[in-house]
Amino acid sequence: MIRRFGALAVCAFGPAWAADVRSVAATDSACASVPRGRLFVPGVDGFLGRLAPGDDGLTLEAVDLSPALARNVPGLTAGYVATHRGRRYLNPTLLLRKGQRLRVAFINRIAEPTIVHWHGLAVDTNNDGGGTFVAAPGERYSYDFEVRNRASLYWYHPHPHGLTAGQAYRGLFGMIEVDDTDEQRLRRELDLVPGRSEIALLLQDRRGPSYAPTATDRVHGWLGDTVQVNGSSCPHLDVSTRIHRLRIVNASNARTYLLGVRAQDGKALPFFVIGGDGGLLPAPVECVRAFLASAERLDILLDLSRADVGDTLVIETQRFDPMHMETSGAASEPAPIDHSMHGAPADAKGGTSAPVDHAAMGHGGGFPEGAPRDLLHLHVRRRVAHGAQIPATLSSIAPIDVASATERPLRLGFAKGRWRINDRLFAMGETPIEVRRDSVETWLVRNYFTSMPHAMHIHGFHFQVLSRETSPDQVAALKIDEHGRLATDLGWKDTVLVWPGESVRIAIDFAMNFAGPQTYMVHCHNLEHEDGGMMLGMKVA
Ligand code: C2O
Ligand code: CU
Ligand code: CU
Repeated sequence: MIRRFGALAVCAFGPAWAADVRSVAATDSACASVPRGRLFVPGVDGFLGRLAPGDDGLTLEAVDLSPALARNVPGLTAGYVATHRGRRYLNPTLLLRKGQRLRVAFINRIAEPTIVHWHGLAVDTNNDGGGTFVAAPGERYSYDFEVRNRASLYWYHPHPHGLTAGQAYRGLFGMIEVDDTDEQRLRRELDLVPGRSEIALLLQDRRGPSYAPTATDRVHGWLGDTVQVNGSSCPHLDVSTRIHRLRIVNASNARTYLLGVRAQDGKALPFFVIGGDGGLLPAPVECVRAFLASAERLDILLDLSRADVGDTLVIETQRFDPMHMETSGAASEPAPIDHSMHGAPADAKGGTSAPVDHAAMGHGGGFPEGAPRDLLHLHVRRRVAHGAQIPATLSSIAPIDVASATERPLRLGFAKGRWRINDRLFAMGETPIEVRRDSVETWLVRNYFTSMPHAMHIHGFHFQVLSRETSPDQVAALKIDEHGRLATDLGWKDTVLVWPGESVRIAIDFAMNFAGPQTYMVHCHNLEHEDGGMMLGMKVA
């Protein structure tokens, strides 16, 4: 029985970050224009501390945090702790190199079964932590794999089926930075220094320490009334007049953000999308706003060289229609299969009821999904001479050859109180999706017109978005090409948001060099939907 390392021992970690992350009352629903504390920037230890595991690997433990500590961290009640080369970490940011071997000894010291999933990393079933194997309380699980992915921001979180949402909400999450030569070139050319001009931002909306979803929460997703950025609500960061890189991960259980930057004059400041889930795009794309769903990552450059000292810029989530329409009672109507419905209004098919004017708008209390909110204030404090130009080329990405691909339909729907994929609920051990290894498939993911957005995620393989059709206006307004794609659809993805009425076509190359058949999960990353069974097993053999 392992009990020597309980909440008390973890308390000793407190001072490393307690001074920096201030707790914010959970009832603070409005972020006044005066932010309340400095942004917590991950350092060399402590909360989100940057940890480079060497050949000796790493021991990572899931623990309950004592109330005393939880008062000083973001109100989290659980976390991953590690001690490495004399430094102590809570939810460490793992710094990995492409090609390196990673060994992690995981120890479960919480009261529920759990397991760590490395979101976005291409690993075999034994290392995926998808929930097929879990560690019971007190047990260990060992990981040993090669990092095969391109440089990007990935992350890790629990994945025990049915318990994922609560554990992630309580505080079990962390980031992973993978490095490669494209990444090094970008940092060199722009003189980007992590923690200074390059900042990782982890978003999680919270409402109090405990996770107790109602039936409504299970249908819509668990929404908080504050958004924490690296553990504090509406913080500020001092910046200088140069290019800054923000690497954002949406670690919220369910909330989608519409991110934008507001300049001193109240106008939108364009930013450059340089990467997404699976690393750098071939070239930067200028944008004024971008949706970011649960589990997605967004890598952006912000050029502040024309800002004035004294200016405040605001990273905000802007107003949008959350399109939670399932409460109209018409959720079981299928989206059209043929393409004759292009541009048809959402209620044109089936026509039994116009979508209710968002019964869901009340969901989320003082901060319903789609409501605007300041997330982070940037105070321009210093003028610097920084002549660097945003490079025109960032990386190269070969489009997946889909000439001989077979197409697989995925239908996202709601029946008998549960969200489903192809009318099915997840069953452990079943793999309704069976794929031939080394084959290429296209998947046509269709969401019902009367539905809500679903952030569809695939384990083990990144994909490319080929097209979006019949997108809602607020999505179509952001398209950057004739395929209806958004800037955030470019490059390699592991999660894609599919809006009501939309058909999203993706290409997946199932090239795999693991021996024997492997099984993975395909699911909605709205964690309440995932726990509720909006997930299918996938076998690649
Ligand atoms: Cu972020 Cu199935 O995972
Ligand atoms: Cu994943
Ligand atoms: Cu969903």
